[in-house]
Amino acid sequence: MSKKILILPGDGIGPEIVAEAVNVINCLREESGLEVELDEALVGGAAYDAAGHPLPEATLELAREADAILLGAVGGAKWESLDIAVRPEKGLLGLRSELNLFANLRPAILYPQLADASTLKPEVVSGLNLMIVRELTGGIYFGQPRGIRKLESGEKEGYNTLIYKESEIDRILRVAFDIARKRESRVCSVDKANVLECTELWREVAIRTGKEYPDIELSHMYVDNAAMQLVKAPKQFDVMVTTNMFGDILSDAAAMLTGSIGMLPSASLDKHGKGMYEPIHGSAPDIAGQGVANPLATILSVAMMLRYSLDEPAMADRIEQAVDQVLDQGLRTADIISDGMQQVGTEAMGNAVVAALKS
Ligand code: IPM
Ligand code: MG
Repeated sequence: MSKKILILPGDGIGPEIVAEAVNVINCLREESGLEVELDEALVGGAAYDAAGHPLPEATLELAREADAILLGAVGGAKWESLDIAVRPEKGLLGLRSELNLFANLRPAILYPQLADASTLKPEVVSGLNLMIVRELTGGIYFGQPRGIRKLESGEKEGYNTLIYKESEIDRILRVAFDIARKRESRVCSVDKANVLECTELWREVAIRTGKEYPDIELSHMYVDNAAMQLVKAPKQFDVMVTTNMFGDILSDAAAMLTGSIGMLPSASLDKHGKGMYEPIHGSAPDIAGQGVANPLATILSVAMMLRYSLDEPAMADRIEQAVDQVLDQGLRTADIISDGMQQVGTEAMGNAVVAALKS
């Protein structure tokens, strides 16, 4: 039976990069018998403008019915003055939480062709291949109580709650251990157990769950040290697993090790493997509509979708090989351009990937 993919282009460069990813999906439908049905809906600022909410009920309904979701990006200066409850980001956070997409996989892979694009020395990053597993539906992002209140003194006070149940910690650790089994069997759990009780519990559960995975080498690191080690010696890591907020921060740092955040895909999965797939980068409103954005992270997100939600690992491999091939051909979007390479726009890059897929 054909699977359903919901396409959510979103804001900024979202529609441009998603269009290229859809071309890749259509190419696989036509050439390789991929059986999928595509539907499209609004999310983020685009949804707010059209329907008054960043995650309209109609979009959520389609998202619930879909087997997988491909999202471009949300947000932009235009919506920054809105109440936090209806800002574009709430569309994304709402999808994550409503669909229970608790496991966020953010690989940081350095393409050898792009070693020059990293701000770090080639010997520090060459061969880099790490996976950050970020908890995505709990922690301080969703903890209650939260808000801004007025004190008796008249001064305002902002507060959020960092909170994790044992079951939430256990399930994300299991995702990390299972992924590590298919890689180098090493998991580094990142916490701040020296200061925060919540992450003291995180470490306790990590150790307990880890006992069921004797084949995995489990280590622990405080988040400040982890940030330092990421820029000092990132190749020491295989899989890193951490809380929602620490994962948000560390994954941006890890992405930049690879030279361009424009290259990195991500997957957000529920316990059944249903997932939302999106590039790690944002909506880049500064370059939106110019046709210069890098579509490769979104195209590589389709590869993750084929692997994790659609059970088509061979097609996923083919997309990754096609991307490798266009990089070998010397094609580069503006974010990854270097001397001697040929600069292309969003559409030309997408077309090149489709051509490589067909060859
Ligand atoms: C991310 C983003 C989001 C987050 C924003 C857009 C809400 O930074 O996916 O990393 O903080 O999770
Ligand atoms: Mg982020």
